[in-house]
Amino acid sequence: MASGAVTLFLLFTIVMMVVKILMSFSKRKSYKFPPGPTPLPIIGNLNILDIKRQDLTFIELAKKYGTFFTFHLGPTKAVVLVGYEANKEALVKANYDFGNRGSIPIADNFQMNHGVVFSNGEIWKITRRFMLSILRDLGMGKKTVEGRIMDELQFLSTEIQSYNGKPLDKKILYLAAPNITFGILFGRRFDYDHPTFQKFISIMDELVINTGTPPAKIYNMFPNLKYFFKEPQLVLNRIDQLNVILKDLFNEAKEVKSEDSFRTFAEAFVQKDEREIVEDDKEKLFTEKNLLASAFDLMLGGTETTSTTIQWAILLMMKYPHLQKKAQEEIDNVIGMDRPPRWDDQTVLPYCLALVHEVQRYANIFQYFPHSTPTDVHFRDYFIPKGTAVIPVFSSVHYDETQYETPKQFNPNHFLDADGKFIKKDAFYPFSKGRRACAGESLARMELFLFITGLLQKFTFTPPPGISADDLDIAPEVVFSMRTKSYKLCATPRQ
Ligand code: HEM
Repeated sequence: MASGAVTLFLLFTIVMMVVKILMSFSKRKSYKFPPGPTPLPIIGNLNILDIKRQDLTFIELAKKYGTFFTFHLGPTKAVVLVGYEANKEALVKANYDFGNRGSIPIADNFQMNHGVVFSNGEIWKITRRFMLSILRDLGMGKKTVEGRIMDELQFLSTEIQSYNGKPLDKKILYLAAPNITFGILFGRRFDYDHPTFQKFISIMDELVINTGTPPAKIYNMFPNLKYFFKEPQLVLNRIDQLNVILKDLFNEAKEVKSEDSFRTFAEAFVQKDEREIVEDDKEKLFTEKNLLASAFDLMLGGTETTSTTIQWAILLMMKYPHLQKKAQEEIDNVIGMDRPPRWDDQTVLPYCLALVHEVQRYANIFQYFPHSTPTDVHFRDYFIPKGTAVIPVFSSVHYDETQYETPKQFNPNHFLDADGKFIKKDAFYPFSKGRRACAGESLARMELFLFITGLLQKFTFTPPPGISADDLDIAPEVVFSMRTKSYKLCATPRQ
């Protein structure tokens, strides 16, 4: 009798185990990735990737595999979005599904899921919300910041004028934007020859280069091989140097209250209710680590991007003098020389506005910024697991022939209708779209419009003597961003 019970118990246990195994099989999800090139062991599809112009490889592959395809970045299986429709469907319509940041080990090493650009989860959500609200309070896209930009334009113009039309390095065009960010962070600006300012600029420059070399990009795909690459340590050293400067500036800012009612980002951060807790790990959010990480994001966002775009604008103006002249004629006719262009003037300077947009479209300073899926995602006919790397190729939207008549050419008419009125294009992705779109977009737009039109009002830009417009090389220099190659310019004051 007893042995019968044991047999029955054993049978029951076995049946239960079999049922459990069968259930686990039936629960296993059948993911379905889109097609893509066949990967090789370990290196994945790296054998066919142009490491500097990855966007061009992706655009080419889309012709064979469609606008949503799989690509193996070394061992990482990623999905790639090419062209206007695919990017809009994923980033705008399916906003949440593609809205996590993808891993960038060379930056993750120091940001460690802090700040906004390189973070995810609660810490991203709360810090981004805080950053946007404080930028709004500080007057981003409004009069307060407009005044600061116009003052800075004056400083930059004086500096340029001091060269009396003699050739000067494009680096001069890098100097204005960082001061706008310093204003937001600490409520101050620096003279351009101030040693701290000079040091800051050179560290940022090295960071943008060190994080964008081909080995740094390979390291991002094989982070375990850290000891074979010099870049990760170089970058950490630069970040240490940068943090020394930032900490000093924070300490100074604590002692000297900012002028007017202009509360700085640093002040607002420190005053933030310290009881705000990140639920995930019970870590306090408004820590020094997060302050430094957020300051770094603002510095990176507010310096490299805007300055690089201004350098593109002036290079393209020298390359296409007839377009420069057209913009100047519009400024002369509508504004004259008595005052610099203002933000409100966008509506009466449609050609200039179109020109600034075209500079951004043509320059594509970011080919893409990696995203990832925060959850399992159904997209088109496919089913992608949570945590999949996503590559939204912004430049492919700008090269999309269905959206721009002559995508390979620099042509401000892309943003004008037949009557010369400005047209807003949906296929405009320099700031990306959706959940992870640039947090500084309205500030950046204002800076670009005011700096570029203000410079064109005051100066005519030409290549140095002996160099013709045809000689100018407008191919990009690819680092972390897509910069112009180094160049020299002559700035002749206009009367
Ligand atoms: C020409 C100027 C600028 C360009 C072209 C630009 C472009 C971008 C792009 C492409 C992204 C990534 C979006 C994505 O992952 O989908 C981004 C993110 C970001 N940008 Fe900008 N940016 C510019 C200026 C600025 C400025 C002035 C600031 C700060 C005041 C800023 C702050 C940020 C931040 C905080 C993020 C991270 C957003 C997030 O991950 O949630 N950017 N930007």
